[in-house]
Amino acid sequence: MGYSYHLPTRRNPFSDDVLEWRESEVEELIENRIKMKILIATQKPFAAKAVEGMKNILTEAGYEVAMLERYEEKEELIAAVADVDGLIVRSDKVTAEVIEAAPNLKIVVRAGAGYDNVDLAAATEHGVVVMNTPGQNSNAVAELAIAMMIYMSRNRFTPGTGFELQGKTVGIHAYGNVGRLVARKAKALGMNVIAYDPFVTDKALFENDGVKQVGSVEELYKSADFLSLHIPATPQTKGSIGYRLMMSLPKGATLVNTARKEVIDEVGLEAAMSERTDLKYVTDVAPDDVSTMAALFGNRFFATPKKMGAETAEANINAGLAAARQVVGFLRDGECKFKVNK
Ligand code: 3PG
Repeated sequence: MGYSYHLPTRRNPFSDDVLEWRESEVEELIENRIKMKILIATQKPFAAKAVEGMKNILTEAGYEVAMLERYEEKEELIAAVADVDGLIVRSDKVTAEVIEAAPNLKIVVRAGAGYDNVDLAAATEHGVVVMNTPGQNSNAVAELAIAMMIYMSRNRFTPGTGFELQGKTVGIHAYGNVGRLVARKAKALGMNVIAYDPFVTDKALFENDGVKQVGSVEELYKSADFLSLHIPATPQTKGSIGYRLMMSLPKGATLVNTARKEVIDEVGLEAAMSERTDLKYVTDVAPDDVSTMAALFGNRFFATPKKMGAETAEANINAGLAAARQVVGFLRDGECKFKVNK
């Protein structure tokens, strides 16, 4: 369990040749067992407690653990995966090149929700299972979304009269784990919550949360004082939030992006914010054109210096330990519950 046997090539001690069976050979075989190796590769490291817990889970299951933290060049990751059987990452880019450099690789777990950083086609082609850990870091991201709303409604904590969240409407674009938590927290603050998610077919989900489900993205944007984005970056969503949707927001509205920068059409967003000087944009994923936007929009724009939605000890521990358990569950028992490549 947790390791593979290195079968000596000279003679197989489990062959029918029982007469020649020697206990010492079995001992040698066990000595020679090669532990499977799991690499935890994080440009943005997990909290120390999370790493400790992950190492415990993996070593207790019989695996060797290697760490690659705060690396800067993709070549470092490529070199580190050469002999690994499993890989745990955060937003680290697991490209086809990385997968091809890891002939023993069997599983990649993205400790987090969005797996747009993993080349699924390349993984599938090489027989590598890819998983995420949905829900494990959602609360941290939802809290940041609410914090960003307050920050912007108080003029980024600069002197001057701001406004309150209570009584305002928040539109939740995609009602997944994070969207749902934002909805519940917003309701606790006395906000009206509306949501749009064409992939959620169970109406009771919205009703139980006291959330009004709207039938189109247009309807969502036109009524949202705060529009909280929770869509993943996919070929369908990339560049989908731009001029038209921004212009349909009500007066004084704020777009809150704790999802992905790729879903924004930056040119369209800039055009809308230039034309509508009442609109605001706050994001946890800095746009490519961050310095221009900061200069153009002043207090109406804010981007965190580094993505920090899931940067809490709790989120790191939840997602990190879940990832380690999923690696063990797959390598030992073939569990595939959170597999995302088909
Ligand atoms: C996610 O998709 O889980 C979040 O965006 C967090 O990503 P991170 O692990 O890079 O902070």
